[in-house]
Amino acid sequence: MDAPDRLGKSVTGSLVPDPASDTENRTDYWKNRSPGWTAAASDPKPNDDTFNLRLIEEIGISPDMNVLDIASGTGDPAITIAGKLDTGTVTACDMTSEMLAVAAARAAKLSISNLRITAGNMIALPFPDSTFDAVSSRNGLMFPDDKTGCAREALRVLKPGGRAGWMVWGPIDANPTFLAVNAGLEKFFGEQFPPRLIRHNLGTPGLLADVITQAGFAKAEEIELKQERFIRRDDDYFRRAVSRTAPHRVGNLSETGWAALLDSVQNACANFREGDLYRIPIVARLGIGTAKF
Ligand SMILES: C[S@@+](CC[C@H](N)C(=O)[O-])C[C@H]1O[C@@H](n2cnc3c(N)ncnc32)[C@H](O)[C@@H]1O
Repeated sequence: MDAPDRLGKSVTGSLVPDPASDTENRTDYWKNRSPGWTAAASDPKPNDDTFNLRLIEEIGISPDMNVLDIASGTGDPAITIAGKLDTGTVTACDMTSEMLAVAAARAAKLSISNLRITAGNMIALPFPDSTFDAVSSRNGLMFPDDKTGCAREALRVLKPGGRAGWMVWGPIDANPTFLAVNAGLEKFFGEQFPPRLIRHNLGTPGLLADVITQAGFAKAEEIELKQERFIRRDDDYFRRAVSRTAPHRVGNLSETGWAALLDSVQNACANFREGDLYRIPIVARLGIGTAKF
């Protein structure tokens, strides 16, 4: 099965794609988004570790390992991995220096000393062959065109027998709060916030395993990750979602403006409300590749 040919069919038909989607593999796109990610990282701790811990378990990280986190951005799951290591290290690698600067700042605030930072593109990783015991990557593999080439690079830098794990978003209809947050933004700002469908292009079951197999891993597995998060109205969740989605629109908002914007977003999320809480369904996929010995 040819994974790239199927990628375009992995999202639901009625949605209008974001014309900017094809820019998400570019450094300037993420550089421009980094203020939103910086704001969202005001608390340096990971805000939800459920899927990170599953990734760590599946790739078999042990305390003495040297781990590479690809497309680490502002440091997830690298920061969680760092906490699992003793003599080992984790290297956070990403093509966008502005995102990595946030990862470094988070690590410093948390007194993490075993996290290294290296700028680099996942299609040509700046490391010698067989450098790392394990490789992780969360929400990055959807963006490059040549996903198989990127997975092949991960295999190249992995030691024999090592495991790599890629987490990606599931289909957009299984993650409906993305659309609801955009609807709240549209109502508030009176402009369109089209869904970023590129985020979901590996969401169809089987695509990730195809990419991993085609890259040359000896074994490929794929798992659905599913959870429901229960969020209080005053939880930082909505503010983080808005900061990341519309960094260009919220930079100069007053606190009164923010309160009105969050009202609009929470009203758009009314379908998810249960009493005092919002029930947020989250579906991701985890692909695991094992290198041959
Ligand atoms: C959605 S963020 C995910 C960041 C982090 N892993 C997380 O889960 O919070 C996507 C990241 O992928 C990075 N990225 C996109 N294409 C890339 C590429 N070709 N090589 C390296 N990094 C890339 C971006 O710079 C951005 O930091």
